[in-house]
Amino acid sequence: MTNHLQRANKILQRINELASISEDEGCITRTYGTIAFIEGRNKVEQWMKDAGLQTRTDNIGNLRGRLLSANTNAKTFVIASHIDTIINAGKFDGPMGVLIGLDLIEQVIQSKTELPFHIELVAFSDEEGCRFHTTYLGSKALAGSFDKAALHTRDAAGISLAQVIGEMGGDVNNLSKDAIAGEDWLGYFEIHIEQGPVLYEKDIPVGLVTAIAGQCRVGMVFNGEAGHAGTVPMSMRKDALACAAEFVLATEKFAASNKDGLVATVGKLHIIHSASNVIPGEVIGSLDIRSSDGQTLASSCEAIRKIADDICQQRDIVLEWNLIQQTKPVYCDDGMNKLLARAIKEAGFELVELISGAGHDAVPVAEVSPVAMLFVRCFKGISHNPLENVELKDLAAAIKVSENFIQHLINENGSHFTG
Ligand code: HGY
Ligand code: MN
Ligand code: MN
Repeated sequence: MTNHLQRANKILQRINELASISEDEGCITRTYGTIAFIEGRNKVEQWMKDAGLQTRTDNIGNLRGRLLSANTNAKTFVIASHIDTIINAGKFDGPMGVLIGLDLIEQVIQSKTELPFHIELVAFSDEEGCRFHTTYLGSKALAGSFDKAALHTRDAAGISLAQVIGEMGGDVNNLSKDAIAGEDWLGYFEIHIEQGPVLYEKDIPVGLVTAIAGQCRVGMVFNGEAGHAGTVPMSMRKDALACAAEFVLATEKFAASNKDGLVATVGKLHIIHSASNVIPGEVIGSLDIRSSDGQTLASSCEAIRKIADDICQQRDIVLEWNLIQQTKPVYCDDGMNKLLARAIKEAGFELVELISGAGHDAVPVAEVSPVAMLFVRCFKGISHNPLENVELKDLAAAIKVSENFIQHLINENGSHFTG
């Protein structure tokens, strides 16, 4: 078995070990700040310590491991991904990038390479935003763009983000102190599953990310009028669920008819005080709109808002529309992508360039640092699903390419990487 396959095997074992930690019976769930999240983070921290990294947990709950260059004035190169998950997650989305990063650093340490830059491995604490319907809490803190207004958001149990940060030992007044200052960034690299079908269809193990789609996340409340299902005539109803349902289908039709690769999803609909013999009076829903084209995203958000207003007006429903997050598309760094493209070709793979429809922690980081991402093929492109899977040989391919890439970065910035 080659060195890369052996290392891939070790990474896969760690991915499986981490996947065995969950807050839900029978599926993988580790949302921000839960006991399972902390247990999983502790396990990763032990692996970082075993590798010889100086570790710390910052105030937002990111786990950070640093490997210092002998040059104290050196910039920092961050290798990162997230260790929080969605509910009923796959085991690769997030942890794979952190654990391949740890392997790359282990090789740098074992080969006693003189680093011309510091390396910081970061396991972000909240990329998915499942518990508070936020996103990028960890990477925003690292990039210095954390919005303190988010501290007041509450989870389904009414617990505030500020309270959870405190319970995890963080100080909400020191969040800004955890950022890496703009001038200290050399670059950011994230290895992540593609979460789409292109690499699988092309039968190629890795792909180079050129851009990451922008997102618009909205919280909606459809306020109608609860009533008796047996007595209120159809013409007199203010049925919040029927209204929401009409909105869902109209939104799907709008996105499907768009030519610029727009996608729109209502992922959550929750009927308040639901009962089979009650006309739904209040429905809470989520809306997720994405496009890699900034203009398309902005105009589509407005158009879908108008669709919601028109349907609610026709049905005499009062709509609450809360914009939770709007991120523009970001573009990966040309300079680093030239090195990454070279690394892919040197490893013997055809170069495939991809735009990411999924959001990643590289999005907030791109405001302060050049970013690069390597996509890894996953089974049929399936993700956000327990069927998510990555073959050992593709893990090995990602290690080989990433190692070449780091070597080029080291060569470009100073001493030679003897890994
Ligand atoms: O939603 C996303 O795109 C990512 O998985 N957080
Ligand atoms: Mn995800
Ligand atoms: Mn992810």
